Amino acid sequence: MRQQIVVANWKMHKTIKEALPFVAELKERSGKSSVKIFIAAPFTFISPLVEEAGSDADIFIGAQNMHDALEGPFTGEISAAMLKEVGASFVLLGHSERRIFFGEKDDFISRKVKRAIELGLTPILCVGETEEEYLDNKTEEVLSHQLTAALNDCSANQFDKIVIAYEPVWAIGTGKSASAAQAQRSHHFCRKVLAALFGTAAADTTPLLYGGSVKVENASLLLSQSDIDGLLVGGASLDIHSFIGIINSF
Ligand code: PGA
Repeated sequence: MRQQIVVANWKMHKTIKEALPFVAELKERSGKSSVKIFIAAPFTFISPLVEEAGSDADIFIGAQNMHDALEGPFTGEISAAMLKEVGASFVLLGHSERRIFFGEKDDFISRKVKRAIELGLTPILCVGETEEEYLDNKTEEVLSHQLTAALNDCSANQFDKIVIAYEPVWAIGTGKSASAAQAQRSHHFCRKVLAALFGTAAADTTPLLYGGSVKVENASLLLSQSDIDGLLVGGASLDIHSFIGIINSF
C-alpha cells in the first residue's frame, strides 16, 4: 500500500493569523482517514504552525523551497538545517514556479533533493511539462528527463524517502486540470521511469501526487486512478472548506 498524501501549497498567500485557525480546523478532522495532510507554508509560518499542529500524527508542516548548500553567502536563501530547526518535515522542490520564474535548473534541484534527505526532510519533487511541450507531444520526454536529472545519482536508500508530484504546467492555476485519464497516463509513465532507475519494488511504493487545478469537483475521479496516490493543491487549498472537501475525497 502506498501512502496517501494531500499537500496544500499556499505559495505566497495568507498571514500567520489566518493560517493558525486553518490548522486548528484540520486537527478537528484528524484520525478520520488514512490520508496524511502536508501544509507547504511560507517560511515564517512554519514554527507557529508546527506548534499549532502539536503531536497530531496526520498533519505535517513543511516549506515550499530551500537551497542545497549547508550554509554560505546566499542572500535571501534558506537551508535544510534552518527548516529542520523550526520543525519542518518536508520540502517542495523543483516546483514549476521555481523553475520558470527563478530559473532553477535540474542539477540544482538534484542537489537539493539529496540535501533534504541528508538532513531528514522529505523532498516532494515536482515535475511536469509546459503547454508548448504538451502540444508538441513531448510530455514523456520531459518527464523522463526531469526525473532522471533530479534522481539519477540518488542511492536506493535515498530514493526510498522521496515523494514525486506530477504537475503539468498548463494545469497550474489555470482552472484547466488534466483529465483523470491524462493524469493516469503520465503517472504510469513516471512510475516506469522510476522503475528503470530504482527497480519495480521501489517504484511501486513511491507516492505519486497529481497537481494542477485540483478542486473538490475533480478530486475523487483523479484519486480513482491506479497510479495517483495523492494530490498537490494550490488555489483550492487556501479555503478551509474546499480543502476539507478535497481531503474527504480520499
Ligand atoms: P493550483 O496549483 O492547484 O492552483 O493549480 C497547484 C500547484 O502549483 O502546486
